[in-house]
Amino acid sequence: MANDASAVFDTLSPAVSGGSLADPFTPPADSSLWRKNFLLGAATASYQIEGAVNEDGRLPSIWDTFSAIPGKVLAGDTGAVACDHYHRWEADVDMLASLGLEGYRLSIAWPRVMDAAGVPNRKGLDFYKRLLNRLKEKGITTFVTLYHWDLPQHLEDRGGWLNRDTAYRFADYADLMSRELAGTVDAWATLNEPWCSAYLGYGNGHHAPGLANDRFATQAMHHLLLAHGLAVPVLRANDPASQKGIVANIGRGTANSESAADQRAAHLFEVQHNAWILDPLLKGSYPQDLFELWPGTEPLVLDGDMETISAPLDFLGINYYFRTNVASDGAHGFRDVPLEGVERTQMGWEVYPDGLRDLLTAFRKTYHNLPPIYITENGMASDDQVTDGHVEDTQRISFLKRHLAAVDQAIKAGVDIRGYFLWSLMDNFEWAFGYERRFGVVHVDYSTQKRTIKRSAQWVAKFLKERKARA
Ligand code: FCB
Repeated sequence: MANDASAVFDTLSPAVSGGSLADPFTPPADSSLWRKNFLLGAATASYQIEGAVNEDGRLPSIWDTFSAIPGKVLAGDTGAVACDHYHRWEADVDMLASLGLEGYRLSIAWPRVMDAAGVPNRKGLDFYKRLLNRLKEKGITTFVTLYHWDLPQHLEDRGGWLNRDTAYRFADYADLMSRELAGTVDAWATLNEPWCSAYLGYGNGHHAPGLANDRFATQAMHHLLLAHGLAVPVLRANDPASQKGIVANIGRGTANSESAADQRAAHLFEVQHNAWILDPLLKGSYPQDLFELWPGTEPLVLDGDMETISAPLDFLGINYYFRTNVASDGAHGFRDVPLEGVERTQMGWEVYPDGLRDLLTAFRKTYHNLPPIYITENGMASDDQVTDGHVEDTQRISFLKRHLAAVDQAIKAGVDIRGYFLWSLMDNFEWAFGYERRFGVVHVDYSTQKRTIKRSAQWVAKFLKERKARA
């Protein structure tokens, strides 16, 4: 496989570059993507699509508070309306099913389903029951994330993830949800991307709640992982038939130069992005190199915490987007050195499918107990426009093609990967970037809420149809 992604992009056939479906994605006959039990789906998250933030007893979340602060989110956007999915869920499920997608990964808004005293909110719970029941009726495999960043504000007011008690509150929430929704969920993920919650939320302040202190980040991470560990046995007890796991974002770090200092910097980048989360989960300890990068930031860990955190998982969800090129910062850490002349997306992220394959194959060596993997997010943003009823998102088609090929290569190298979810089903509230960055395979016109199926979604649908026909 070529390492230079832009070269691959340039070799796309004119038909695909022109956005037609004349040259559909036909993986080689021996590709694992043809396996009927390789799940292909799409993902979303509550705050990014639901809107209806003040309806049916939903309480404020940290993202309502954060996005209301001028300057925190591009153009002052908030999730108040988003894709209005709370009201349009039926049509959205029909759309998902019409594309032939086999899996749907969604998240539950914690502030919608229980109040500050832990009393269940029936209206909020009913929304998720209706949604999940309909997905089951359509034969769609359901992956439910309990925490995709919308912490109830009342918990943040008591310290949020810096307060150990939040982990116990999370276990109570997991208990309620798994009692209420048992039987409609195929796989539970406790947390989405604890790295983002801990580092962007408490370490550099780019995300809610907007605090910036490395020591906060490591303590928040510990409480997030503890929350996960406390929730897993609760989920197992209440809903034994489902799978239980967690979703981690992973980043590939490389250095241009062979110097020991720069190679060390690339290693530290991956420690900070990957091992910080995966080591506690899979080895039961924090990587000591992390504290070389951030001296004096060891979190307070109580007896038994690491055993709780490292209990076996049924699956590990992996979210992958890009590679970061770094060099030594001359002290203990790394600094970004953006590569020139590489293909990038609307986010400025480099398109680097090899990173996904290389990380997965490396994890298989590092972690002897690596659980079965689902790619729970992968995708890209582009400045998509609707022209004559069509959206020609050709870069996305190419992106997906190459990343699915990377997944196939990792499977062939022995990694147990069972499925892949596109990020995202539809354009949505992209956190600090608001609505400007479009990650969907379905376009959303936010002034009318009209959904337009992009070429990429048609392409995926066509492949799924073909796979079904061959089965
Ligand atoms: C991930 C998030 C997801 C989305 C994508 C682009 O970090 O889990 O909600 O914003 O990035």
